[in-house]
Amino acid sequence: MNIPQLIDFTEASLDAAFASVRNEAEAAVAAPGFEAEQFRLEWLGRKQGHLKAISDAWLKAAPPEAKKLIGQRFNALKEQVEGFLIAASAGAVVKPASAGLDVTLPGSSQRVGVEHPLVKTMAEIVGVFQRMGYSVGLGPEVESDFYNFEALNFPPNHPARDTQDTLVVAEQEGKPLRERLLMRTHTSPVQIRSMLEQAPPLRLVIPGKVHRNDAADATHSPVFHQVEGLCVDTNITFSDLKGTLDHAMKAFFGSAVKTRFFPSFFPFTEPSADVQISCIFCGGKGCRKCKYSGWIELLGCGMVDPAVFEAVNQRRIELGHDPVYDTRRISGFAFGMGVDRIAMMKYGISDIGLLYSGDMRFLEQFA
Ligand code: DAH
Repeated sequence: MNIPQLIDFTEASLDAAFASVRNEAEAAVAAPGFEAEQFRLEWLGRKQGHLKAISDAWLKAAPPEAKKLIGQRFNALKEQVEGFLIAASAGAVVKPASAGLDVTLPGSSQRVGVEHPLVKTMAEIVGVFQRMGYSVGLGPEVESDFYNFEALNFPPNHPARDTQDTLVVAEQEGKPLRERLLMRTHTSPVQIRSMLEQAPPLRLVIPGKVHRNDAADATHSPVFHQVEGLCVDTNITFSDLKGTLDHAMKAFFGSAVKTRFFPSFFPFTEPSADVQISCIFCGGKGCRKCKYSGWIELLGCGMVDPAVFEAVNQRRIELGHDPVYDTRRISGFAFGMGVDRIAMMKYGISDIGLLYSGDMRFLEQFA
């Protein structure tokens, strides 16, 4: 570096001389091929560095009356040069004040993420019900026996519990049964939580993750997703349930889809039904996907069992709330469906495990 000799010791010309050195250091940091260690040696090296040379040429050689002015500027310059080095080593972009914006440089691009197919399907199902005036309810995945079973009319030791292959939390045996923790096996406990918090009328959709002790295979996963629904008001009948679900299936799968209801059993609904839709692949003619029946079973539903309202009232009293779910005045329906199976049908996914594999080659297909 060429260091001119100082002849003029006014503050203005000292400022100009130091500024030009500062600019040179700044440009060196921003230059292509910048290397931190090389810059440190060149500028801050104790024996050969530019700052050492400037100290010798400007500071040491200065007349005594200018020493203080030059010393202050030299210290500031050293701090600035050290600052450039630290910023550049940390990856910050140091742009010389004089350099303009180079529009010919390639831009830095950020890969945009997309919704996971399960999250997307779940949001679409929830959206269908939101447009009918339903609110969204959520609840915990670690649940107590009371919410997952007892209040939903699964008595202790009742065989209906066996259908739920429950994963229980360890070391709960010291607690009363209703307080023991488990991984929720369905989203239905959020029905109870919601009714404890709110008085009727109630219209809720409840999306969420659930867990069961199922061995993983092409159609089973120990973690999966459900969307639950609950509608409680005066004069709610089975026709309201049928009309609501028929509309929801048409809104989700297309207006040509038909629904049919079969008697079934769930402890928390009476009567209960399984709902089938006409096969979305063959339109009902019969194909491999619907096992040549023309129908696909999709969800469970029913009229809320009065025993559930009673359990809610009982618990509301224990919590100091009014028992407002008066079974002489109100009724309701509920339904529950598996999101994974619906997403697999919709996107033609043959193995449920792919939804949980985190494999980018699979996920990128939904981008
Ligand atoms: N909770 C049920 C299950 O996981 C699904 C279900 C069936 C939910 C009927 C409901 C219902 O709300 O009414 O097997």
